[in-house]
Amino acid sequence: MEKLYPDSEVELTPFLAKHYDGLLNLVTLGFYRGFIRKAVAFMKIRKKDEILDLGCGTGRNACLMVHYLDGGHVTGLDISEDMERQFMEKCKDKPGAVFVRQRIDIPFDLKRKYDKVFISFVLHGFPQEVREVVIRNAFNHLKEGGSFHILDYGEFDLQKAPFYARFVFRKIECKYAFDYIGRDWKTILKEAGFTRFEEHKLAGRYARMLTAYKKETETNNTD
Ligand SMILES: C[S@@+](CC[C@H](N)C(=O)[O-])C[C@H]1O[C@@H](n2cnc3c(N)ncnc32)[C@H](O)[C@@H]1O
Repeated sequence: MEKLYPDSEVELTPFLAKHYDGLLNLVTLGFYRGFIRKAVAFMKIRKKDEILDLGCGTGRNACLMVHYLDGGHVTGLDISEDMERQFMEKCKDKPGAVFVRQRIDIPFDLKRKYDKVFISFVLHGFPQEVREVVIRNAFNHLKEGGSFHILDYGEFDLQKAPFYARFVFRKIECKYAFDYIGRDWKTILKEAGFTRFEEHKLAGRYARMLTAYKKETETNNTD
């Protein structure tokens, strides 16, 4: 498949897509397993939650979320055929997990609203104007009072990071990620309409789960 954004690393090559989970375990020396479990726990998933996972990948995260659900469901969106195949295989015994082939970088309407929207290590890989479209898609698909969970890099100064962190980041990341870590994400999300935030730092301060809440509209009771 031709890349939509040639400078981006989140549009994976077929090889990377096929071996994504294994490679992630390998490069993090197995650390990623605990990392993602901890991150999903920060979502405070309730049994009946309806969750949207943007750029869901292999279904690994959706499978973790399904563990918390009883009556709720997770819908994963992705553009990759390889990811779709893995998601269907991983989630075949999990009726609460559904895959939809859908681009998230253009406006779309799934004709329903969700309690939670999740995006994990995707947002950093787009140009800023595309990230804003993704954020709008998340906002428009949330119920009032719903939450947007961004698991991605934290905000940090790469120059001040230890040598190994600088080395790894420079080796694996695309130019958009360098821009992502320097931005003030709470301000950007506030401008997009989110009103309240929670932040959980992970891997030191180099990654984080940033949760942004969509305000519930106050209803004027005139009775
Ligand atoms: C770095 S992987 C992260 C996968 C998953 N979120 C995770 O944390 O394991 C990026 C994912 O985003 C998907 N992706 C890239 N561009 C996309 C787009 N425009 N629309 C939907 N998915 C996209 C890729 O196919 C890939 O599965």
